[in-house]
Amino acid sequence: MSEKDNERGFYLTTPIYYVNDVPHIGHAYTTIACDALARWHRARGDETRFLTGTDEHGQKIQQAAEKRGMTPIQLCDEVVTNYKKLWERLDISNDDFIRTTEERHIKVTQYFFKKLIESGDIYMGTYEGWYCLPCETYFPDAQIGDGKVCPDCKQPLTRMSEESYFFRLSKYQDALIEHYEAHPDAIMPRARYNEVMSFIRSGLQDLSVSRTTLKWGIPVPGNDRHTVYVWLDALINYISAVGYPEKGGKWEVCWPHVRHMVGKDIIRFHSVIWPAVLMAMGLNPPVRVFAHGWWTVEGDKMSKSKGNVVNPFEMVDIYGADAFRYFVLREVSFGNDGDFSELALVNRINSDLANDMGNLLNRTLQMIEKYRNGKLPPVSVFSRSRDIDTVLRDLAVSTLSDMDARMDDFSPDGALKALWALIGAGNKYIDETQPWKLGKDDPDERLDLVLRTLWEVLRLVAMLVHPFMPNTAVRIQAQLGLEGSPSDGLYPDWGWGKLTADVTVKKGEVLFPRIDIPKWKEGYDARMKARLTALAPASAGKEPPASFDAEHKPQIEIDDFKKLEIRVAKIERVETVEKAKKLYKLSLDLGFERRVIVSSIREFFTPEDLIGKKILVLCNLKPAKFRGIESEGMLLAAEADDGGEIISLATVDDSFPPGAPVH
Ligand code: MSP
Repeated sequence: MSEKDNERGFYLTTPIYYVNDVPHIGHAYTTIACDALARWHRARGDETRFLTGTDEHGQKIQQAAEKRGMTPIQLCDEVVTNYKKLWERLDISNDDFIRTTEERHIKVTQYFFKKLIESGDIYMGTYEGWYCLPCETYFPDAQIGDGKVCPDCKQPLTRMSEESYFFRLSKYQDALIEHYEAHPDAIMPRARYNEVMSFIRSGLQDLSVSRTTLKWGIPVPGNDRHTVYVWLDALINYISAVGYPEKGGKWEVCWPHVRHMVGKDIIRFHSVIWPAVLMAMGLNPPVRVFAHGWWTVEGDKMSKSKGNVVNPFEMVDIYGADAFRYFVLREVSFGNDGDFSELALVNRINSDLANDMGNLLNRTLQMIEKYRNGKLPPVSVFSRSRDIDTVLRDLAVSTLSDMDARMDDFSPDGALKALWALIGAGNKYIDETQPWKLGKDDPDERLDLVLRTLWEVLRLVAMLVHPFMPNTAVRIQAQLGLEGSPSDGLYPDWGWGKLTADVTVKKGEVLFPRIDIPKWKEGYDARMKARLTALAPASAGKEPPASFDAEHKPQIEIDDFKKLEIRVAKIERVETVEKAKKLYKLSLDLGFERRVIVSSIREFFTPEDLIGKKILVLCNLKPAKFRGIESEGMLLAAEADDGGEIISLATVDDSFPPGAPVH
């Protein structure tokens, strides 16, 4: 089905979120973007459905539950409420929320599996390969280097072998290529399309779609030693939620229009595996898979250990849902990576929201109140329209179609830029027409025209901003003296000057009060400090235990110290050591040579925390073997307590070259 045939239907999904953790800005981002798109389409009268939910099976969830001494479903039931609450606070207008532990989903997943076994697209075999536990994915040998780390998340891979059902992905290679050649918009942005196409062309292998090693999953129908591979289980949510395969179910209307929004890390699951499974089921592949970029924070990767994870609840508490929504959608070109900083958010509130949008509303309403007692001037005077007014009106009309085109391309940032161009033009129009002088120099009709033009622009602004900032739109609409929702009747014809009824404007509270930066900075610094303190609870604010200074070692001569060869080393690779829960095998760059050391720091750091760090290493320690691996040195670290439960690696800043000596 072509995009044209699809014009009136719009079924949009977010990825379903893992419930092993609390929601962060990345999750909020996808959902906010989908919400803006869904609201836009609803407002233009399209048959719209918007789905989100949670991904509740699999290793990650099982492990997270074990860690917290809960059953997996207890964990799911607890964490899912965080997501539901967040969507409420962010004004997300999803039509449904699916959990993969719900019966309606389980039965459809089993239906898929059964059908595919019957058609021969799923068959039984044995799988042996390199498996990434966190990503729950096997990787073909060709895709992994000597380091045996996951090509996606860079964590160490584990060699596994198991009896497994396989999906005949290879069979669909040509069909996928053909489909994407015919539908170049089916994967966006373009760079992702190219990436997926070359991946498909490089050859697809059949995919293991069941596990015997994992209990927390959906049992394979007829063979419950196996559970369904969690990614297959997860992808099916998109169609189980709309009642497939029931006759007369919503899916019959929705499915031809389905679009998936995902982060760039999960594009292949959605644009290779999922469409092939759908083809095997005789269903249409998604109309579009759009992959957005990732957020970093102040230039850094988000990570719990760094304490820089952006908590959307906190952002909403401080800045309000609409400002946060506006910022994430406006700040980055959708599809690219973006960097989050609270200062940038505050600056946007001050400039775009308080200054541009807020001022346009305030100035206009103030003048209508002052010069016309709050009564909306009549529209009839438009016949006397002069150039400058026509230009603004034409811009308003074209802004609508411009934004529409941007939203069709999944470019909320582009749409917002277009809207702010109109807001800017509105402010400029006030500066140029100088309404405060008109009463004196011009006939009254001229002032009527100017005020009415501004009011019409604002009426349109309320409608157009609604999908992005629903609450602000309602507030603008109320101040303009209008009833109903700003999303009413956006299409097909919102009608400039259409309203003839008596309208009285009601200037209300300022939409976005300006934030005083120095004052804000004080609060911000205090919050950051509190966050860092919370990060190291055992060491922060506590006197060190008495045992720290109780026992000094005997004094040494400087020559004793000089015997130690301590150097800066860069951590290049981090691998786990089989059957040793505490050990990491670290591959180090010492500038002039490479070394391996084995260190018992695994419980404190993820490989991601370590890779790239410049640490201090005692190089001339006699080598020793741990679990058969020779360790050629020892890294230096501080302990926060005498039990060694919190440690911090001795590091140097990035400007120091590997191999630099320490005296
Ligand atoms: N459960 C799977 C999706 C299954 S869909 C059938 C999953 N869940 S997730 O919770 O780990 O991630 C959900 C989404 O959040 C992904 O699209 C991912 O790209 C996005 N993000 C996670 N961290 C992110 C950033 N730092 N920035 C932007 N989005 C990121 O994957």
